[in-house]
Amino acid sequence: MSSANQFPGAPRRNFYGRTHGKQLRPAQRRYLDEDLPRLTVHGVEWEENPDRAPLDLKTIFEGRPVWLEIGFGGGEHLAAMARRYPDIGFIGCEPFVNGIAMLLGKLREGGQQNVRLHPGDARNLFDVLPEGSIERAFLNYPDPWPKARHHRRRFVTEEHLLPLRRAMAPGAMLRVATDIEDYVRQTLEEVPQAGFTRVEHDIGTAWEDWPSTRYEQKALREGRRPHYMSFLR
Ligand SMILES: C[S@@+](CC[C@H](N)C(=O)[O-])C[C@H]1O[C@@H](n2cnc3c(N)ncnc32)[C@H](O)[C@@H]1O
Repeated sequence: MSSANQFPGAPRRNFYGRTHGKQLRPAQRRYLDEDLPRLTVHGVEWEENPDRAPLDLKTIFEGRPVWLEIGFGGGEHLAAMARRYPDIGFIGCEPFVNGIAMLLGKLREGGQQNVRLHPGDARNLFDVLPEGSIERAFLNYPDPWPKARHHRRRFVTEEHLLPLRRAMAPGAMLRVATDIEDYVRQTLEEVPQAGFTRVEHDIGTAWEDWPSTRYEQKALREGRRPHYMSFLR
């Protein structure tokens, strides 16, 4: 599937991933109706903010440092990190509605109050993040796009990395986890080209606060090795 911004003046950004999966359970529909409007970061989509005015993160997070997770999937990592670091404000970004509903269920259960969401494409969020506002960013098991002709769709391309770099504070850390060897190659090539410095590359041994994710569990079951890479802005 491919969809793009339709708003006049908005850049054309094709999104090739899924936004909907199997039918939601009634409880999940309730989380989306009751919790998502309150937790959504407003002013991200072009319709709401055609002038692309920067978000007021200081007000949203009451001055706490802000960490960003791109493509949180079912929210295992985001919910666990938000619980572990209550003094950090988290923005989670994910266009897949079933994943958003799963995260909302976890937040109801765990009671974390320090998470806000952009239920859409990370590129629209990058437009409106104030420069230097993100102190840590996570990219966990990004879509692999295995065919060579699709490698430019990967997140680790300058279309995504340059605006992410602009939004990150000097010295802020970007963590990337993947189980796809060719994704490791492209990450080690393109992330430094976009102005980040590699500081760590572990195979099989994760960061000490790493809570694992659904995609990682699948990779391990299927015998693939996780790579954990850290870069500084
Ligand atoms: C392979 S899944 C991994 C999910 C999760 N991080 C995990 O480890 O289980 C990749 C996720 O990235 C999301 N994604 C893809 N493109 C995105 C974009 N432009 N902005 C935000 N999320 C995106 C997808 O919807 C998908 O949920």
